[in-house]
Amino acid sequence: MTRDRTLGRFIALEGGEGAGKSTQARLLCDALVARGIDTVLTREPGGTRLAEAIRALLLTDGDAPDLRTEALLFAAARADHVSRLIAPALAAGKWVVCDRFVDSSRAYQGGGGGLPDADILALHRIGSEALLPDLTVLIEVDPQISAQRTAARDGDATDRIGGRDTQYHARVDSAFDGFARVEPGRFARIDGNGTPQETHAAIMAAIDAAGWVQS
Ligand code: TYD
Repeated sequence: MTRDRTLGRFIALEGGEGAGKSTQARLLCDALVARGIDTVLTREPGGTRLAEAIRALLLTDGDAPDLRTEALLFAAARADHVSRLIAPALAAGKWVVCDRFVDSSRAYQGGGGGLPDADILALHRIGSEALLPDLTVLIEVDPQISAQRTAARDGDATDRIGGRDTQYHARVDSAFDGFARVEPGRFARIDGNGTPQETHAAIMAAIDAAGWVQS
């Protein structure tokens, strides 16, 4: 999807389990609002009623879908999210901060699950006209730290995908690493091992480095 770059900016936060994306997405949105930027905070899977219903089917409700169904459902949720919420917000000049986007499908259903990256990208082209974030903030955390954080947060109540084995999550992390190496201009790699405020400061530095706004 080609967009008029004078309109809103689209920032996605990505990373494996326990990276602290949701906290950082909130802090980032608050900081942008404090700068007077009209910002929408949203998440995937979800962000619209239909996509939140798909989220429940994917992560908690009913039977686990097989890998291809899973990839199609993530793509369908994203298509609704893009057409109903993200694209209209950007067109109205708002900034969008999104907790996960298509790189999560590439890392989880692709790297973790084994579907070819080209297939995930084809679904994204069909569903969402291949819309990509202007900047993708990849929060990287050592596996021991993320395991501690997810245990403290979820206990035994992890979702269906978060609860997959350590090899699956290692493949997810290594897929994210590969994407950031291939597209260094679209990704900002952030060390997420420190305190939330330290990580937030690093993210704000990356946003400022993009040169979009006066701070
Ligand atoms: P999220 O709510 O961000 O969970 P967490 O806070 O544990 O990171 O995402 C829910 C789960 O869905 C997470 O395990 C990652 C997975 N997921 C995919 O497998 N593919 C996708 O395209 C997306 C957006 C998420």
